[in-house]
Amino acid sequence: MSGTLFPRERAVVADGAVHVPDWLPPERRRALVDACRAWARGPVPLRHTVLPGGGAMSVRTVCVGWHWQPYRYSRTADDVNGARVADFPGWLVGLGREALAAAYGDGPESRGYTPDTALVNFYDSAARMGMHQDRQERSPAPVVSLSIGDACVFRFGNTANRGRPYTDVELRSGDLFVFGGPSRLAYHGVPKVLAESGDPSAGLPRGRLNITLRETGLR
Ligand code: SIN
Ligand code: FE2
Repeated sequence: MSGTLFPRERAVVADGAVHVPDWLPPERRRALVDACRAWARGPVPLRHTVLPGGGAMSVRTVCVGWHWQPYRYSRTADDVNGARVADFPGWLVGLGREALAAAYGDGPESRGYTPDTALVNFYDSAARMGMHQDRQERSPAPVVSLSIGDACVFRFGNTANRGRPYTDVELRSGDLFVFGGPSRLAYHGVPKVLAESGDPSAGLPRGRLNITLRETGLR
């Protein structure tokens, strides 16, 4: 799906929540897919995160910079293999700053944005993610989300509960979504992946890759 026939417009979905379609050009999608493949090989493997109730998430995840497990960050993947996660690379800080500038405009918030963790999530066509808040971070800085491969329905809700009101946004390969400010703690989730809607030229013949950048506020 190229989106060229009917260009999709930047949309403010809620106060502080901005969707920028087709933000990542094809060569940067490929580079990001390559980086994610390398992180998935180690030091910590891509795995289904196990929730406190014993169930496993349907997405597979690998983390960079800090390891997230329900519901805390650590430097080592204590619920996987105990290894220290890969360092957060400088180029990914730069990408986060560019993304924030694209969503919010180039100002002090974008220039000072210093994400230190990335959660790399891989969705097969049956995977989904329930409505949740990203709230283990101590920093109020925005979350930057990049999607590659199959499209999905991304449900962006409110800060009070998992239910309505919410807006369903279709995230396609190359799309950027940023949520910060009054939307930083909004519930969100992925109710559906649109199988085979993807972007083989990005190097991902099937499935959906989502990368979220965050500032943990930890040291
Ligand atoms: C997440 O909420 O961590 C992932 C969202 C997405 O896959 O688009
Ligand atoms: Fe999230």
